[in-house]
Amino acid sequence: MGDFYFLGLDLGTSGLRALLAAEDGKPVGSSEAHYPVSNPHNGWSEQDPKDWIIACKTTLSSLRENFPKEYRKITSIGVSGHMHGATLLDKTGQVLRPCILWNDTRSHLEANVLDKAEDVQALSGNIVFPGFTAPKLMWVANQEPDIFAKVDKVLLPASYLNFWLTGDMFADMSDSAGTSWLNIEKRNWSQRLLDASSMLLGSMPRLVEGCEVGATLSPHMAQLLDLSDDVVVVGGAGDNAAAACGTGVLGEGGGFVSIGTSGVLLVARDGYHPLPESAVHTFCHAIPNKWYQMGVILSATDSLNWLSNITGLKPAELTKALGCNIKGPCSTKFLPYLSGERTPHNDASIRASFTGIGQTTGVNELTQAVIEGVSFALRDCLEALRQTGAKPSKLTAVGGGSASDIWLQILATTLNIPLDIPKAGEFGAALGAARLAICGRTGQAPQQVMHSPQVERTVQPSKILQDAYETAYRQYSKSYNHLRGLQ
Ligand code: XUL
Repeated sequence: MGDFYFLGLDLGTSGLRALLAAEDGKPVGSSEAHYPVSNPHNGWSEQDPKDWIIACKTTLSSLRENFPKEYRKITSIGVSGHMHGATLLDKTGQVLRPCILWNDTRSHLEANVLDKAEDVQALSGNIVFPGFTAPKLMWVANQEPDIFAKVDKVLLPASYLNFWLTGDMFADMSDSAGTSWLNIEKRNWSQRLLDASSMLLGSMPRLVEGCEVGATLSPHMAQLLDLSDDVVVVGGAGDNAAAACGTGVLGEGGGFVSIGTSGVLLVARDGYHPLPESAVHTFCHAIPNKWYQMGVILSATDSLNWLSNITGLKPAELTKALGCNIKGPCSTKFLPYLSGERTPHNDASIRASFTGIGQTTGVNELTQAVIEGVSFALRDCLEALRQTGAKPSKLTAVGGGSASDIWLQILATTLNIPLDIPKAGEFGAALGAARLAICGRTGQAPQQVMHSPQVERTVQPSKILQDAYETAYRQYSKSYNHLRGLQ
């Protein structure tokens, strides 16, 4: 194609990351800008879409300043975004209220009602979790009827950025799969699912595959961003599918475990194998004819951050104090349900607990209990995924928690799966989004473009500690029911 460049935008929960990549996918440069999450009430989590736009303009100005030659040759853009958020637009395209985010649990009653409605799990392939989009709209209809009456379109966060860039309303399959309105097997909006939450097909954006061109940059935006007016914007992806594209997790056998704010254990699937009762998410991949399944826990590094806040010690200081080698599972136990749990319990109201605290328990024991509790919760996800027939034999470990060696050792041993640690560099959702942009513009197959990152080292499960961790996990997996009984 010649000397062209590609832009991946990852609209994350805490900020937006813009990544400039060459045609071979090699990153050229990146820029980040942050924005807040507001929590006006317990369980609420919102963002002002205006902040996304400001962050987008800031990061693009910085890329233009630092890489002027490459910036001018951008030919295609892909956007990845945090999933499930409801951005409500009126007839004129104006935002009606703050976006209700993926980690907002206010609509748990509506989710429960919708989840039990006929055909909903069968068609959407998933439990309706309170974080998903459809119950949010039911909540708006119940609690903010004046706003609901004005809703003309519902866009997911990435799709809203696509709209800002192009003036056209389109969304990719992987992100749309998290709404509870998509028939995930057929990759189409489902009239039956829309009816179940009293929504109209006309309120949905046009569907495209993640690596398919959605529209061209609008002339106004081309001028504003100083980009050529033939730049295209591809469908993009929800952030987990984009991360799968960034780590080369495209088909059966591939998978990653992300120890981020939330924890994700994701496997790619060649076919559609829903199992809603396991509380696993089954979503379309961002590339055609592929799906992925994942277990999600809501507080991974968030659990350690919580301990960090109350001890006044940084997360890295807490884990460093544990030394380099584990001697075995800690007798203090932590159940990491600070914000409720998705997989495998689907319980928005459960809260975390420590048990086994004695006179000698100190900060180190609490830290070890926290990282073990999160690792056991990820093992719960693995067990749930195995029930669907997924058989990951190796996983790539990503996310902030993977910077801790001790956490990796405990996780590899708990999962009894080797963990590949990528060489420092780009392999996240922003790279995945840039790779989708490359495929959309050049017509290359995803498999040609979306390679696995280079592996720096592989953390093997500890043979010596295997049995002890297996026993500790078995105990852990019984604890939820006891805790539930207490709350
Ligand atoms: C996935 C989910 C989260 C968000 C976070 O179902 O809710 O992973 O996408 O960014």
